[in-house]
Amino acid sequence: MELQGVSVLVTGAASGMGKASTLAMAGAGAKVALFDLNAQALQTAATEVSGLAVACDVSSSDSVEVALQQVIAEQGCPRVLVNCAGVGTAGRIVSRSGPLPLDDFRKVIEVNLIGTFNVMRLVAAAMLELSALEPDGVRGVVINTASVAAYDGQIGQAAYSASKGGIVSLTLTAAREFASFGIRVMTIAPGLIATPMLLGFPQEVQDSLAAQVPFPKRLGQAEEYARLALHIIDNELLNGEVIRLDGAIRMQPR
Ligand SMILES: NC(=O)c1ccc[n+]([C@@H]2O[C@H](COP(=O)([O-])OP(=O)(O)OC[C@H]3O[C@@H](n4cnc5c(N)ncnc54)[C@H](O)[C@@H]3O)[C@@H](O)[C@H]2O)c1
Repeated sequence: MELQGVSVLVTGAASGMGKASTLAMAGAGAKVALFDLNAQALQTAATEVSGLAVACDVSSSDSVEVALQQVIAEQGCPRVLVNCAGVGTAGRIVSRSGPLPLDDFRKVIEVNLIGTFNVMRLVAAAMLELSALEPDGVRGVVINTASVAAYDGQIGQAAYSASKGGIVSLTLTAAREFASFGIRVMTIAPGLIATPMLLGFPQEVQDSLAAQVPFPKRLGQAEEYARLALHIIDNELLNGEVIRLDGAIRMQPR
């Protein structure tokens, strides 16, 4: 799909891989709408790409419905959705202080899994108004973001890995359901990417994580995610699959 003049929506767009995606899409000529909870950082990110900043909570039905209406009114219905909003809150299922509070688990599922589903369902429904493009009848593309934690969950990642496993499992179902609409659904499962989510760890932790990557032996860059997102948009045969973007890392228990 040619991105020149196309409306694109990116969630979690104020930071990390979401922000890198907005830069890549805008660089390809797209009109970019940015969703994030962090209104201040969102405005800064939107200014960089002359995009439309709409502060919203991806896990709230009302919040996303209102935000999406604004996008449709101001720049047209998105043909591309890149779902990057997420939280990485950690906690053992049972620790010295007792069982993980259920609300801690619920919060991560709410943002990562339900938030991804929420934006996808509303945007896909809106995409039905778009014309199908020649030659294959593509209407739109949805790119979700899982994690290698969906497969190799670390100690303390119960909620996070469960939320990302849900996104992995959703991919084929959504692609099959949306096939008759001409909407493709793909998921990227990043490994260790140098974004604020990871750069908050002490340097020695970052170094030890990077040393676990077989090749290249370094943290990934948010731009590498954005480049894969651009390729997924361009390559129409990619559908219903999860791509690990991880330098072959298979996280070991620790
Ligand atoms: N960084 C990594 O190593 C890594 C690895 C695997 C997967 N991921 C996933 O990639 C995605 C992007 O992560 P990142 O590393 O760029 O993180 P990041 O923290 O830099 O960006 C995430 C953004 O999501 C926003 N957000 C959080 N909750 C939200 C909500 N309820 N509504 C709207 N926006 C919300 C945050 O404000 C933030 O701007 C996340 O889903 C994350 O789980 C990250």
